[in-house]
Amino acid sequence: MPIILSVASGKGGAGKSMVSSNLGLLLAKRGYRVTLVDLDTGGANLHVLFGHFHPQVTLTDFLNRKIKTLQEAVQPLSVHANLSLISGTGETLLTSNLPHPKKKRLLNHLRKLEGDIVLVDVGAGTHFHTLDFFLFANGHLTVATPDRGDT
Ligand SMILES: Nc1ncnc2c1ncn2[C@@H]1O[C@H](COP(=O)(O)OP(=O)(O)O)[C@@H](O)[C@H]1O
Ligand SMILES: [Mg+2]
Repeated sequence: MPIILSVASGKGGAGKSMVSSNLGLLLAKRGYRVTLVDLDTGGANLHVLFGHFHPQVTLTDFLNRKIKTLQEAVQPLSVHANLSLISGTGETLLTSNLPHPKKKRLLNHLRKLEGDIVLVDVGAGTHFHTLDFFLFANGHLTVATPDRGDT
């Protein structure tokens, strides 16, 4: 069973995707088999950061049962042999408003992914799903910017 790490932030644009992708690459270079999972359900874009503009398989395919297991949505990334990605989806209405059974199935399959580390990029804010995806992990990272807000 892999170690699951989640990356979150209070606000969007804080750098979650940047931290997830670079941390994933760093861990891959250290020899861990890492799967990045884009669970920023309202604005998934990790695939774009890796130049995969039209991913062949996405989280939507799993949620819509086009594929049976989440593992089938794992796509290799050319940047490193140890690094792979489950792309999020453009279908934000489906993924942002996941019914409970679909979310439960997703979390169950996350635990069963192959490899050493699953690195989950969750959305910003405190939506129920966001908190569930964040807290589900074994380890948690939060990203913040140094804005003081008093200028
Ligand atoms: N450490 C950094 N230094 C400079 N720019 C950054 C840094 N981290 C992120 N950015 C930029 O900030 C923007 C938002 O980053 P992103 O990782 O997409 O945020 P989030 O995933 O939290 O919405 C992007 O344009 C990204 O290039
Ligand atoms: Mg992001």
